[in-house]
Amino acid sequence: MDQYHVIGNPIAHSKSPQIHARFAELTGQVLRYDRLLVERDRFKPAIADLMARGIKGCNVTVPFKLDAFELADEASARAELALAANTLRFEGGRILADNTDGLGLVRDIEVNAGQPLQGLDLLLLGGGGATAGALGPLLLAGPRRIVVANRTQAKAEAVVQRHRQHPSLQQALARTDLQVLPLDARLPASDVVINATSSSLSGAGVLIAASALKPGALVYDMMYGPPAEPFLSWAAQHGARTCDGLGMLVEQAAEAFFIWRGVRPPAQVVLGEMRRAL
Ligand code: ATR
Repeated sequence: MDQYHVIGNPIAHSKSPQIHARFAELTGQVLRYDRLLVERDRFKPAIADLMARGIKGCNVTVPFKLDAFELADEASARAELALAANTLRFEGGRILADNTDGLGLVRDIEVNAGQPLQGLDLLLLGGGGATAGALGPLLLAGPRRIVVANRTQAKAEAVVQRHRQHPSLQQALARTDLQVLPLDARLPASDVVINATSSSLSGAGVLIAASALKPGALVYDMMYGPPAEPFLSWAAQHGARTCDGLGMLVEQAAEAFFIWRGVRPPAQVVLGEMRRAL
């Protein structure tokens, strides 16, 4: 039976095995998908071991996404833009890397939340790994403007600069105005605001002023459950529609499943089930 893993540290909390098991059931695919806890300095030997055992591929989560990208023999444009990989495919002794996080985000916003991004003004909060994974797919969705706002402006500048130079984005960059601002600047009113910071984990309050929300804006937090609540309830109080990151989690998994199996699982069905179980 074809086998896959999700590798991280910690990993016990990961919902990926549950999601992929449902995808397999619902599509009639026969596979196994398990968690794998790997010590922080053992990523490379762990991957070598999986390949030697004939494992077909793996998802990679914190703190190994960067290592996964660096180890790969070949990487998709999305992984290059993120400088990180969350999906590896092992084929003929080679490691093929992709990053499905940003696509998962875009699909959750456009399909599940029903908000096409073309022509809109977007505000992306953060300049870390989550922002790096999201920016390329967001640009490809054709918004009018994307402002990336981060506490440490230089970090956001570096991410944006990498995107500006990437051949795969030149057409997208011709139609989207891409800017960087410090988080405490007067941020422009936006149709869609995406929180890609980890600030809620440290209990920091809401990072932006309500003037950054256009009337009826969609406010998205990449976290879900209690960490997403402060930002999303603030947004709801200011008349925004809100969306947490559970759908992004399911959609990034659906894209990985498609990469491995060539079959698109019914992500919305699984998202509905997970939402009810939360
Ligand atoms: P991830 O992979 O989740 O993006 P990361 O790379 O550590 O994690 O990035 C965390 C992001 O949250 C960064 O943009 C960070 O801002 P800095 O680049 O200035 O460090 C942001 N962040 C974390 N805590 C924050 C806080 N209290 N206020 C504002 N931004 C915060």
